[in-house]
Amino acid sequence: MDDLYRENILEHYKQPRNFGELPDPDLEFEDNNPLCGDELKVQLKLGEDERITDVRFSGHGCAISQASASMASEEVVGMPVDELIKLDRDFVLDLLGIDISATRMKCALLTLKVLKSAGLGHAVAECIREAMA
Ligand code: FES
Repeated sequence: MDDLYRENILEHYKQPRNFGELPDPDLEFEDNNPLCGDELKVQLKLGEDERITDVRFSGHGCAISQASASMASEEVVGMPVDELIKLDRDFVLDLLGIDISATRMKCALLTLKVLKSAGLGHAVAECIREAMA
């Protein structure tokens, strides 16, 4: 069974979904894995109901980091941004579907970090907007 998941990871790594840049994103965040320097940026477009309507990611890194970004990008379209910021590590680990060693955990969780950070930027901006109203 692990082989199927490994194949899927390699397939996403070689042909990433939603890779590139949005011309006019509402939210974006980028970060890197300090252990290796690999980088990941995510951009999100929101609809009027604060659901994610489009997503792109870009960067460079290992198969685990890039495949998890590709897989996650297919899952978050249609998701309310409030739900995005509540995602936990199981979201990414379930997508990958294989046991991730302690040393590769940072690779797997880089996607979660940039997605949640992009969403949290929105939550903070909303909070400030409400406080100023
Ligand atoms: Fe750099 Fe995986 S080795 S993110």
